[in-house]
Amino acid sequence: MQVRNMLQKDIKSVAELEKQCFSQPWSENSLKESLESKSYYFLVAEEADEVIGYMGVTIILEEADVTNIAVNSEYRRQGIAETLIHCMFQVCKEKGIQAMTLEVRVSNKPAIQLYKKMGFCSAGIRKNFYQKPIEDAMIMWKYQL
Ligand code: COA
Repeated sequence: MQVRNMLQKDIKSVAELEKQCFSQPWSENSLKESLESKSYYFLVAEEADEVIGYMGVTIILEEADVTNIAVNSEYRRQGIAETLIHCMFQVCKEKGIQAMTLEVRVSNKPAIQLYKKMGFCSAGIRKNFYQKPIEDAMIMWKYQL
């Protein structure tokens, strides 16, 4: 498995992953626009030329906000998300970013476990943050990447 920068050619595969994983997936167009924007940064995990995971952040001043992280359901529990986050910490540190934040559905136990393992701490609840279904978000932060 290899982690590398996301390229235009990955957009279709990442959009498929979005559809597999989320009730409100990012479209190919929003992925394309974000990839072209300087304030976003994306990594993909690739195995035998297939995109099996990806992670995106948006960078605001000295903070990175995780937009999404997803791993193909056939490849889960093999440390792929952990590797993507480690690589993203590295990239962000090199860009001078001090901290990372994210929102996660309060019912998403696998993701919450993952973020805690990677050193994120809960910093509160944002009521009714999500649609389809409506649900609260847990806000998490990690300082000193
Ligand atoms: N149950 C409990 N803990 C889990 C878990 C599960 N199903 N999946 C991952 N974890 C936690 C564990 O602490 C795990 O460490 P361990 O294997 O030593 O116990 C750690 O996360 C790392 O797991 P990893 O194998 O790197 O995760 P993954 O590659 O399977 O990807 C997600 C994890 C959350 C990205 C994946 O389940 C996914 O794509 N889910 C759908 C999309 C999603 O919900 N994204 C998050 C949006 S906020």
